[in-house]
Amino acid sequence: DVQPKATIVIFGATGDLAKRKLFPSIYKLYQKGKLAEQFAVVGVARRPHTDESFRSYVRETIEEATKQELIDDKFISHFYYHSLDATNTQSYEQLNELLTRVEEQFHIPGNRIFYLAMAPEFFGTITSHLKSEGLTATNGWTRLVIEKPFGHDLQSAQRLNEEIRQSFSEEQIFRIDHYLGKEMVQNIEVIRFANAIFEPLWNNRFIANIQITSSETLGVEDRGRYYDHSGALRDMVQNHMLQMVALLAMEPPIKLTTDDIRSEKVKVLRALRPMTHDDVETYFVRGQYGRGIVRGQQVVGYREEHSVDPNSNTETFVAGKLMIDNFRWAGVPFYIRTGKRMTEKSTKIVVQFKDVPMNLYYRTSEHVHPNLLVIHIQPDEGITLHLNAKKSGESMKTTPIKLDYCNNCIDGINTPEAYEKLLYDCMRGDATNFTHWDEVAASWSFVDPISEVWANTKAVDFPNYEAGSMGPKKADELLQKDGFHWWPLN
Ligand code: BG6
Repeated sequence: DVQPKATIVIFGATGDLAKRKLFPSIYKLYQKGKLAEQFAVVGVARRPHTDESFRSYVRETIEEATKQELIDDKFISHFYYHSLDATNTQSYEQLNELLTRVEEQFHIPGNRIFYLAMAPEFFGTITSHLKSEGLTATNGWTRLVIEKPFGHDLQSAQRLNEEIRQSFSEEQIFRIDHYLGKEMVQNIEVIRFANAIFEPLWNNRFIANIQITSSETLGVEDRGRYYDHSGALRDMVQNHMLQMVALLAMEPPIKLTTDDIRSEKVKVLRALRPMTHDDVETYFVRGQYGRGIVRGQQVVGYREEHSVDPNSNTETFVAGKLMIDNFRWAGVPFYIRTGKRMTEKSTKIVVQFKDVPMNLYYRTSEHVHPNLLVIHIQPDEGITLHLNAKKSGESMKTTPIKLDYCNNCIDGINTPEAYEKLLYDCMRGDATNFTHWDEVAASWSFVDPISEVWANTKAVDFPNYEAGSMGPKKADELLQKDGFHWWPLN
């Protein structure tokens, strides 16, 4: 169905995510004709709003986000609001009445997406009321979209999962990892499986190491309260970074179906060499930013940020070396690093191939540059292949050259926005780019021993990297020990 007919019920409709991502994405889908007139959006939150005041709020946020003037009253007329008291049964009954009314008005066949874009405390309460008050019993389909954090560790994730599974089956649950909606993350699979030249080399015989960097220039902004209890390991590694590892390392799926792809990804996550408490120090590095200069601006250190404990032990940077113990990858390190307040905003994957068996050009070229395949995820989107060629004019001297493909040179912005694609996928019932419970569980199992060690040992060297830098020195040493180094991001 190219124009799915559904009501999107957004819990947390007055929050940051709805404002920055969801409303603009819905608008773009509408503009592109991917939503017909048979859709509605019902905003749900605690604070009071009338439909009218909610509509003008939505209008403003979309205008701000898209930098366009929005004049389409017809579009806005699809938006409704319900002020919810999350623990009050009656409040759900009223919501159900509103949904039924809206469905009649727009001829929507009972298809409902319940999108939880809010603090996780109420996930369980809300989902159980949705079922007990009959909001999930419609003539159409019902789906649950759930934002991170999906638990704090394996145990709490399991509890949360059991709670929501009382009301929704696994097939109805769409767990968001917005990295899976990014154009170039989706491209990893195509680059690997649609090209004859990479797949034969994609293993431990020809690849020396793989490096994944996701650096940010922003600090914790106004999320100190959440972030200080989370840290970079839970915020970025457990989900986004491990998902990219899984896509890079998985076996070719039998078919491009949701189940086939997910089951290959899960196998990778299960093959990650588990960290014992003693391993953590050898394989992982944590960092926390101090004051510094980011893109020309003086900024405060993490411990001085709003709602952050002035003695905080929370990491804002993680680097790690992951080993995948299977036939394809035995012996190949996957290095990951991610952090706040770094030099630049960039997500990149560098696949470093092994050196040629011997350097024939040693008389003129001391080193032959290794071949690299660089996948640029953001802000630029593309692929660069680093090869060697003859330096022109000079006899048999080699020089590195680059073959570049740019996916998005014109405006440098992710188009379409990840959320736009994910929302549309969910409306069409395609769960491929959402995380299955088995992936979530395997990721927490890997990450938990690391957070346990870090929670129980004070990082005496914090803050250990300056804002605006590429992280602590130890992150460089992690690769130096293996005879490698981080490839520069540009
Ligand atoms: C989110 C994290 O999941 O991803 C944020 O909670 C982080 O802390 C963000 O800033 C990064 O996403 P992107 O798309 O900007 O790379």
